[in-house]
Amino acid sequence: MRAVDLIDKKRRGLALQKEEIQALMDGYLAGEIPDYQMSAFLMAVCWRGMNTEEMANLTRAMAASGDSLDLTEIPGVKVDKHSTGGVGDKTTLVLAPLLAAIGVPVAKMSGRGLGHTGGTIDKLEAIPGFQTSLSGQAFVQQVKSIGVAVAGQTGDLAPADKRLYALRDVTATVESIPLIASSIMSKKLASGADAIVLDVKVGDGAFMKTADDARRLARTMVEIGNHAGRNTVAVLSSMEEPLGYAVGNALEVREAILTLANQGPTDLTEVCLALAAEMAVLAGAADDVDAARTRLVRALEDGSALAKLRAFITAQGGDASVVDEPQKLPQAAVIREMTATRAGCIAALPALSVGEAAMRLGAGRSTKDEAVDPAVGIVLRAKVGDTVSVGDVLLEVHAASEADAQACMEALRDVFVIQDAPVAKPQHVLGYIR
Ligand code: URA
Repeated sequence: MRAVDLIDKKRRGLALQKEEIQALMDGYLAGEIPDYQMSAFLMAVCWRGMNTEEMANLTRAMAASGDSLDLTEIPGVKVDKHSTGGVGDKTTLVLAPLLAAIGVPVAKMSGRGLGHTGGTIDKLEAIPGFQTSLSGQAFVQQVKSIGVAVAGQTGDLAPADKRLYALRDVTATVESIPLIASSIMSKKLASGADAIVLDVKVGDGAFMKTADDARRLARTMVEIGNHAGRNTVAVLSSMEEPLGYAVGNALEVREAILTLANQGPTDLTEVCLALAAEMAVLAGAADDVDAARTRLVRALEDGSALAKLRAFITAQGGDASVVDEPQKLPQAAVIREMTATRAGCIAALPALSVGEAAMRLGAGRSTKDEAVDPAVGIVLRAKVGDTVSVGDVLLEVHAASEADAQACMEALRDVFVIQDAPVAKPQHVLGYIR
């Protein structure tokens, strides 16, 4: 089987067989197929697309290219969650202890942030002492004993995806739904879960800017997951404005604690409950989403979700007293407020601008190897649909220096779009693909 023939077949819009896709992946990983041929293949996929069968085969081949996590020792149905990334997205910090509190095992591998989107591992590491690198054995043991573990990736999951992604990045072939969907799903398959819930973000701060594109990506990933024998559901959620009020690692941990104490922002609580209910149903912990929601809301109200957070932090070496004394989390040296210079109703608060400003403060990284500052970030004090008067505080900047704070305020001076006419509060959960 020659690579050139497979490229030609895809270029002519024909579907590749399982063995052909496997041969391309094997040849590429073995160094027998050079980058220029793989680039041509990727470009052909961008133009011609792939059918479900091809995408499932590509996903499986990438998932099988490296290590995979074996979660079979953990009793019960293990459900993973994946977010396509956004600003202020601290849902994993809430979902992991919340689901464990109702008896759903959570064994989650998470990543670090890049660009304007944050990463769960950076957020967890804002908790003093919290260890995110666990051996496979310690990870499984912790889930067996307390029902939850969240760690940075161990082993080499889906190395074919890593190599292909780097190539796509420099050949203008990232923006292809079959390639994005198979890339994401290959890592999910290798992570060992029995079922998968996808949080596909839509809007200004998301990878997918329109509901149509997000729905297409979500549907494709659901098809791939189901084809690979993993029950998969997608929730579409809004990323027009940041999720919740806090953007920045320690600030987001604080907001997650409040949410687990049932005092969180409405949008964050709503998105977390929607995702958690889907996960609980897939795990068999409830017959339907309404029954799941009832159990989850009870865990927020009766303190059991917060208690599970304490146990989770302690198990991973962190200082669980931050749950009751959040002032022990890293604090920024400088906190400055930005106030409204006109009255009215907030019509827009673009998530991307807020995420980029937080990244420049040091809450995120622009290249893979940069360190983050756990203390810095932005706390919004008003969101879309709120009415403000002149002088009301719109946001707080938590910075490492006065100069950083001033630069951030300057960058965000016009980020709140304020108008005279009233604006309805937006919807946060936009749809489901089951
Ligand atoms: N995230 C991924 O993991 N892969 C893609 O291709 C795009 C976003």
